[in-house]
Amino acid sequence: MQRIAMLGGGFIGRFYAESIHGQRSRDKVVAIYARREETAQKFATDYGCDFASTDMEEVIAHPDVDMVCIALPNNIHETAVNLCAKHKKSVVCTKPLGRTADEALRMMQTAEEAGIFAGYLEDLCYTPKFLKALDSVKNGALGRILWAKSRETHPGPHSDWFWDKEQAGGGCMLDLGCHCVEIARNFIGKDVKPVEVMCWAATQVKPIDAEDHAIALVKYENGAIGQFEVSWAFRGGMDLRDEVMGTEGTIWINNFLRTGFEMYSSGKGADYVAEKAESNTGWLFPVGDEVNDLGYNHMFTDMFKSQEEGREPAETFYDGYVVNAVLDAAYKSAETKQWEKVNLPVWRGQEGLKPESTLVEYDADHYLIKQEMTHDGRNKLILKEKASGKIIERDLA
Ligand SMILES: NC(=O)c1ccc[n+]([C@@H]2O[C@H](COP(=O)([O-])OP(=O)(O)OC[C@H]3O[C@@H](n4cnc5c(N)ncnc54)[C@H](O)[C@@H]3O)[C@@H](O)[C@H]2O)c1
Repeated sequence: MQRIAMLGGGFIGRFYAESIHGQRSRDKVVAIYARREETAQKFATDYGCDFASTDMEEVIAHPDVDMVCIALPNNIHETAVNLCAKHKKSVVCTKPLGRTADEALRMMQTAEEAGIFAGYLEDLCYTPKFLKALDSVKNGALGRILWAKSRETHPGPHSDWFWDKEQAGGGCMLDLGCHCVEIARNFIGKDVKPVEVMCWAATQVKPIDAEDHAIALVKYENGAIGQFEVSWAFRGGMDLRDEVMGTEGTIWINNFLRTGFEMYSSGKGADYVAEKAESNTGWLFPVGDEVNDLGYNHMFTDMFKSQEEGREPAETFYDGYVVNAVLDAAYKSAETKQWEKVNLPVWRGQEGLKPESTLVEYDADHYLIKQEMTHDGRNKLILKEKASGKIIERDLA
């Protein structure tokens, strides 16, 4: 059983509490810190917390607290981690870990030096569809992964601080790109080094200093390519889609907008439909169990079990730091309009990987390019002659 202190009584703090208390859960949010007294009190009443305060350190240090869950604006994550290290409390922190890789690296090192458990709350790497897809990728069902693409676009976040570059650390690229980068890293292999990023980012719609739309390519050392598409200007709800392409297969995941649940409502008596849904009339795309379908249940189960068993969770502060490093390079590339190197002063994966050979052996004299049955019943082979390099085709009987 975990006794948890929630730091932040806002949007994600409440989602986390719903998930942690879930169905017949043993784990309990026992304490709440919020900036405003009324937010702390309301949260404590709604979730039955024994202790509520507007003093963050008092909540972290509370003797009944085993684990601290950081659900605060991005610019306060590091302060909270420092306090958890000071009071030797296990900590789990929402995304993005830092506003920059420097900030995230300091948080990782602080937690490691204090010897505390530290987990990175990257929920979209725990959705049921993602977990199943990752299993298939790891089992080899898709062969060698060539391209992993992830998209998160919606009409923009719900609180003022997100739109302020200083507090948030960036725009939609940091806010949403952090999910996409970690999704692609998982599919390509977390031990494969992201090496360079090329990014376009712009402020197309909102009156803000940060970007509200960005697209980027992330090169990996083994030749695979990651891609992300993010926007705070997208209309029509929250679009969460992943695509993975391998030498032996393909996966397409739609996590939110088109989950197989379609509903029509005239709007009379209409209510909440799903996160960031822009409408509650007409044809709608609700989500069966948001807390589960967005990965929160599987995420907290992994975090709590890992802490209890003394092992690392699937998503760690190290992962959060690597994600921040990729995004730092993306921001730089958006300015310079060049491929920019990913700066990873700490790297714990494989080194010196090379792109794999494209040569597939067919027989002693040929490499295989393709075999295909055509509509006229021919079984065709396309081959490359080893000696001459010439490309030929041949019909199989
Ligand atoms: N899918 C996800 O994993 C997901 C989704 C949304 C938000 N988040 C992350 O969660 C964190 C909090 O986001 P949110 O959506 O809950 O924000 P929010 O504005 O809804 O809530 C933030 C809460 O932090 C507290 N707070 C303390 N000091 C504050 C300060 N100086 N300014 C503002 N609030 C302060 C308040 O209690 C407030 O309710 C962010 O890091 C965000 O990126 C993650």
